[in-house]
Amino acid sequence: MIPSKTALAALLCLGLAAFAGCAKKSDNSAAATAPTAKLKLGFLVKQPEEPWFQSEWKGAEKAAAKYGFEVVQLGVPDGEKVITAIDNLAAVGAKGFVICTPDVRLGPAIANKAKQAGLKVITVDDQFVGPDGKFIADVPYLGMSASKIGESVGVALAAEMKKRTWRADEVGVCAITFDQLETIRQRTTGATDALAAAGVPAAHVFRSAQKTQDVEGSFNAATILLTQHPEIKRWLICGGNDTAVLGAVRATEQRGFGADSVIGIGINGTDCIDELRRKPTGFFGSMRVSALTEGYLTSEMLFHWVNDGVAPPPDTRTTGIFMNRENLEQVLRDDQ
Ligand code: GLA
Repeated sequence: MIPSKTALAALLCLGLAAFAGCAKKSDNSAAATAPTAKLKLGFLVKQPEEPWFQSEWKGAEKAAAKYGFEVVQLGVPDGEKVITAIDNLAAVGAKGFVICTPDVRLGPAIANKAKQAGLKVITVDDQFVGPDGKFIADVPYLGMSASKIGESVGVALAAEMKKRTWRADEVGVCAITFDQLETIRQRTTGATDALAAAGVPAAHVFRSAQKTQDVEGSFNAATILLTQHPEIKRWLICGGNDTAVLGAVRATEQRGFGADSVIGIGINGTDCIDELRRKPTGFFGSMRVSALTEGYLTSEMLFHWVNDGVAPPPDTRTTGIFMNRENLEQVLRDDQ
């Protein structure tokens, strides 16, 4: 029997259901009863309490609103939480996630687990490290131009030192670092290299490691330095991020140093806003990097990867601008 024209059209439509035009027409009634679920993409961060990561989440939400997907925000302070989060994402049918891992050495395990679960992964901020100690280059990464941003911190510290007519050979540099993270090592080294170039003698540059990446960890790391060097009367403070510098500034205050004898410049520009709105303290400013943009871009890349099969570039870098009490409100207005 030769099928009628209408039957043929219906058959064709069924066969081509994946193609939008046909599928839309025949799906209308079904859509009313069972709406198609939104695409779900995860955004996992190591320190959900940090304003930096909350801003990244905001950026992810912006991308979600633009492209019509749902962002699943999960705090993953340790390895166990990461594994549970990936299981949960797979269970709800998510197709991928962006992550700032609590430990970069978990990278291979996370990448494997994600692969098994059929989830695509993009790393933000802290790049995965393989068993050979090298970055895992085949997982796309977006993060700060760490050395350059660190260098700008050093240049800004030197400029303020000169403005106050402090001599380069009298100041001490307190560099609070967390070298397990290469991005942090590069930031603090960039800053101390720039200060050396500005004439600060190497014997006055002191690095001290945080045990934990928070204000308390840096308060403790700075206290050790201050105890060891009572001869230093003027301090320049740098660190891997705002909390590193905030903790060190609090430690100097504890020992009687005020805004007139300390210049601290952070990185992030998200975790120091309350501080910069207060009367002058030793926390002088921060290199503001747009966490909002980082969250937006990584989520957008992930969406295009999952939805359109367009793989993200392997390595994308962001830059920062100097923010202090003078331009704070303007910088914040410009980055929304
Ligand atoms: C690391 C730090 C964060 C933030 C990001 C930015 O993850 O811990 O505070 O600076 O880098 O890349």
